[in-house]
Amino acid sequence: MDAISVIRTKRDRGELTAEQIDWVIDAYTRGEVADEQMSALAMAILLNGMNRTEIARWTAAMIASGERMNFRALSRPTSDKHSTGGVGDKITLPLAPLVAACGAAVPQLSGRGLGHTGGTLDKLESIPGWRALLSNEEMLHVLDSTGAVICAAGDGLAPADKKLYALRDVTGTVEAIPLIASSIMSKKIAEGTGSLVLDVKVGTGAFMKTIEDARELASTMVALGTDNGVKTVALLTDMSTPLGLTAGNALEVRESVEVLAGGGPADVVELTLALAREMLDAAGIKDADPAKALADGSAMDVWRRMIAAQGGAPDAPLPIAREKHVVTAPSSGVLTRLDAYDIGIAAWRLGAGRARKEDPVQAGAGVELHAKPGEMVTAGRPLLTLHTDTPSRFDYALESLKAAYDIAPAGTEFTPNPIVLDR
Ligand code: URA
Repeated sequence: MDAISVIRTKRDRGELTAEQIDWVIDAYTRGEVADEQMSALAMAILLNGMNRTEIARWTAAMIASGERMNFRALSRPTSDKHSTGGVGDKITLPLAPLVAACGAAVPQLSGRGLGHTGGTLDKLESIPGWRALLSNEEMLHVLDSTGAVICAAGDGLAPADKKLYALRDVTGTVEAIPLIASSIMSKKIAEGTGSLVLDVKVGTGAFMKTIEDARELASTMVALGTDNGVKTVALLTDMSTPLGLTAGNALEVRESVEVLAGGGPADVVELTLALAREMLDAAGIKDADPAKALADGSAMDVWRRMIAAQGGAPDAPLPIAREKHVVTAPSSGVLTRLDAYDIGIAAWRLGAGRARKEDPVQAGAGVELHAKPGEMVTAGRPLLTLHTDTPSRFDYALESLKAAYDIAPAGTEFTPNPIVLDR
């Protein structure tokens, strides 16, 4: 077998055989297939697609590149959630302890932000002392003792995906449905969760810009999960505007704690509860009331124990950026659009995200929204506050906000998108 013949098959719109797929994933993981060959193959897949049989084999080969974990020793059923990525998407932070407070065990292997989308681990690392890197034993211990753990996937889990994802990121090949589906599902199946709820984002701030593409991605992932014995459900949710009122690391932790304290923005609470109900249902837990667990403080108790178990200080003050810049509304009226992608780019440029994998992020950087689509704004009053430690970044961030919003005359009819678009 050789890489060139595999590339040629897909370049010429052929179907890859099981042997070709197994060989190319294994040889790439071992360094025998070069990055330039794998990027040519990834581009051929992006342009010509893969059928369901090829996707299933590709996923199995990525799982087989590393170890498989299992949580069978735990007394509770496991349920995990994965979001395909968005702006202001802090949902994992309140959701994991909430679902644990309702009786499931939540093993949440999470990622870092890249580009305009934020990463759960970057957000949590703004809590003084908190550690994302745990050994498998530590992970199981936190999960068993608190009910939830949010941490980085270990090096042994789907190493082929780790290598391939980094390559796709720098070769314009992230946005291929077969590659996204196999990337996400190989990690979730190898992780060993019993059930999985997928939050497939749709809109300007998401990888999937149209509902049709999101539906295709969702059904591909649900089929992969189901065929591998993981009870899998997908919600399609709106990402045309940021979730909540903040995009940025410590800013989003603060907002998540507000949700755990029984407050927080309505859209974040609504999506957290919708996903919690799906996760509990998928785990077979029928009699829990997640709204009550938010209101009575039991989700907050799990949060505090989970953060402390990973070295974090739940009561320590969160970092605040050194500089602020307020963007005021240019006119009065109804805010009819606040674009998720533009806000995500602004937060990234302010220092909340990274341009290269090894770059540090600023804990306090990001964007605070003072209104959401559908609300009234007043000329000259704050619309957005930008936060950063490096004020030289303000102009660059402001450039991305030039066309980020629309304000219509007062009285204009406005119907907001529902948060959950489909299931
Ligand atoms: N998240 C992943 O883990 N993989 C992808 O390909 C895209 C989003």
